[in-house]
Amino acid sequence: LNPKYPKMMNEFVYKDVLFVHWTTRRNIELVEQEFEFLPDDLLIATFPKSGTTLMQELAWLLRHNLDFAGAKASRVFERVPFLEENWTSHTCPRCRGRALSRRTCPTTSSGARIEAAPGPGFKTICVLRNPKDVLVSYYHFYKGVVDYGPWPWDFSSFFDMWMDGWIVAGDWFRVAKAWWAQRNRPDLLLVKFEDLVRRPALEIPRVAEFLGVEVGQDDVKRLANALSFDAMKENPATNYSGVPGMLDSFSFMRSGKVGDWKRFFTVSQSEQFDRIYQAEMAGTGLELEFDW
Ligand code: A3P
Repeated sequence: LNPKYPKMMNEFVYKDVLFVHWTTRRNIELVEQEFEFLPDDLLIATFPKSGTTLMQELAWLLRHNLDFAGAKASRVFERVPFLEENWTSHTCPRCRGRALSRRTCPTTSSGARIEAAPGPGFKTICVLRNPKDVLVSYYHFYKGVVDYGPWPWDFSSFFDMWMDGWIVAGDWFRVAKAWWAQRNRPDLLLVKFEDLVRRPALEIPRVAEFLGVEVGQDDVKRLANALSFDAMKENPATNYSGVPGMLDSFSFMRSGKVGDWKRFFTVSQSEQFDRIYQAEMAGTGLELEFDW
């Protein structure tokens, strides 16, 4: 589809957004046109590599009475299925045949209708992360996930690909701006990855309140412990270990840091990125942390 870059498994473009094997054009259409959200549904909307897994786990625990044992009993993407996906165990896209009480559906699809119009009638949590770290995290994901490859190229090629907008799930700026613009809706909560990782004691109660769940100080502590990078890296229900299609060399829970991009971006790449960031985000008022 784009002769400049290696072809990925079943890649296709839908409304200017690149998708790969984990979904199909039909699935996306069904999500856009037919999927019916229920009033108690929670949609977690993220750009890939922005803290999806972290929010999936937090939201599931909050909506299931802090059932830590239950959370360990099955993988996070089975408990919180991806809406458009066709490779996990849930029957996409309608969750048919799966008794998901209190359905919690994340999506990483910037092409589905969610981008422009979450709700009304159900709640949505959007997680945003600084895009330099998203880019670095995504680079490693491309390298580590078989179906995104073969990805023989280096960081600077991936950087160029991002700058060209040839990235699965599309253009970060478009997605971030669309969600940020809706931040004042009462049925939408915007959470910054950096806040959740750095200040869990403040962010967890904010998420709980949005979901209408009461948590005490002790609950927050237990949640923060279970959601720490190290705990989620150790936990087979959250660390994606042994999931087919991921190379042994790849660790899904890779670094979990804010500012890891500095180890990969050259000064000139960083300046180039900053110029585009300024041009795209000027006037939006969105502030993200790029550093520890
Ligand atoms: P890095 O590759 O920068 O480490 P997603 O779940 O949206 O695919 O995002 C994955 C990114 O979130 C990875 O980033 C991963 O390490 C990070 N992550 C997942 N759980 C985390 C946690 N509990 N604390 C910090 N970072 C976490």
